[in-house]
Amino acid sequence: MSKKSNRNKQPFVIAIDGPAGSGKGTVAKKLASKLNFHYLDSGAIYRIIAYAAKKKNINSKSVDELINLVKFYAWSNMGKNSKITFSENNVLLDGDKISNFIRTESIGKLASEIAVHDKLRASILQYQRSFCKWPGLVAEGRDMTSVVFPDANLKIYLNASVDERVKRRYKQLISKGNDVNLSDLADEIEIRDRRDKEREVSPLVIVKEAYVIETDNLNETKTVTKILSLFNKKINRY
Ligand code: DC
Repeated sequence: MSKKSNRNKQPFVIAIDGPAGSGKGTVAKKLASKLNFHYLDSGAIYRIIAYAAKKKNINSKSVDELINLVKFYAWSNMGKNSKITFSENNVLLDGDKISNFIRTESIGKLASEIAVHDKLRASILQYQRSFCKWPGLVAEGRDMTSVVFPDANLKIYLNASVDERVKRRYKQLISKGNDVNLSDLADEIEIRDRRDKEREVSPLVIVKEAYVIETDNLNETKTVTKILSLFNKKINRY
C-alpha cells in the first residue's frame, strides 16, 4: 500500500480467531512480517495478567484486583505508560523477559479463567485497539473478529481437530523444555476450548463473514499463502 495514495484510508485489519493450538500465533506473526503490518497477540495480554496475578497471589475471581493490575502494568493512559513491551521474539514486563513463563499450559489455563470477566475484558479493549496503526494490523485471539475489530477488512477462523492441536501444542511445549504429559495436555485443551467457547462474554465464535480454514492437512506456509491470496483479493477492492 502506498502511503500517499491511501492517505485517507484506515489501516487494513486482518482479524484471526481460533482455538488453542490452531496455529494462529505463528501464522499471524508470519503474515504481519510479510505484509509489514503491526501484530497483536491478544492471548499474550490475558497471559500477562494471569502471570502477574499469580505472582501477587490474586485470585482469578477477584475482578477488581485484576483490573487494578491491568491499570498498574499495562494501559492506564491508553498504553502510553505501559510496563509491557512486545519485542520480536519476547514479551517484557517491567524490563524482564517473560515469554517462557507466560507460554506454559498452567498460565494458559489461568488466562482462560480470568478471561470470563466482562469488566476485565472491557478494561483492555481500547488498549488492544491501540495496536491498529498504519499501514495495517494482524490481530489474533478469540474475539478479534467479533468484538475487538468487528469491522476488520478480512476475518479468518483457523481451526484444527483436537488431536492435531494437542500434537502441535505438545511439540511446542517440549521444544521449550517443558515437562508435559500428553493425556493431561489433551484434557487441559478440551477444558480450555469449552470455557472459551461457552463463556457468556465474547465467547470464541465463527462470525458469518469469516473464512474458515481447516489446518489439519495444511502447514503454516500453506496457511499463510491461503490467507495472502484472500488478502490480495480484498486489497484490490480497498
Ligand atoms: O491464544 P492463547 O492461548 O495465548 O490465549 C490464552 C487464553 O486467553 C485463552 O484460552 C482465552 C484467553 N483469550 C481470550 O479470552 N480472548 C482473546 N482475544 C485471547 C485470549
